[in-house]
Amino acid sequence: VTKIEAVIRPSSLEDVEEALQHAWITGLTVSEVKGHGRQKGHAEIFRGAEYVIDLNPKLKVEVVVPDPLVPRVLHQLERSLRSGKVGDGKIFVTRIEEAIRVRTGERGEGAL
Ligand SMILES: Nc1ncnc2c1ncn2[C@@H]1O[C@H](COP(=O)(O)OP(=O)(O)OP(=O)(O)O)[C@@H](O)[C@H]1O
Ligand SMILES: [Mg+2]
Repeated sequence: VTKIEAVIRPSSLEDVEEALQHAWITGLTVSEVKGHGRQKGHAEIFRGAEYVIDLNPKLKVEVVVPDPLVPRVLHQLERSLRSGKVGDGKIFVTRIEEAIRVRTGERGEGAL
């Protein structure tokens, strides 16, 4: 069981949700977050003001999926997020120790 987290532009949410439906996911979590990447929160880096760091509003999309689905989910995320412009987002992949579906007590892939 693997967790895939994508930090995305808020305006990309609909496209991402639609793309993920093509990857057979069963659930997802979306959180409002703030962050910055290499441009330190600036659309352009202004000479002399590079030390000022802004935090831009982003959405974090988390999906926990069976391991065999990971390549498919990553493909769909990249496809729906890549515009080639700065700020297209970032994707992190983490191995999950355990997943529990509370209603049934199912564990692991069966819990998803
Ligand atoms: N190394 C990181 N660790 C944690 N969060 C990050 C990291 N890099 C980026 N993020 C999160 O992802 C968001 C989007 O990052 P972004 O796409 O701008 O990355 P980047 O490295 O600056 O690439 P680009 O040059 O294409 O903009 C950031 O606002 C931040 O919330
Ligand atoms: Mg950036």
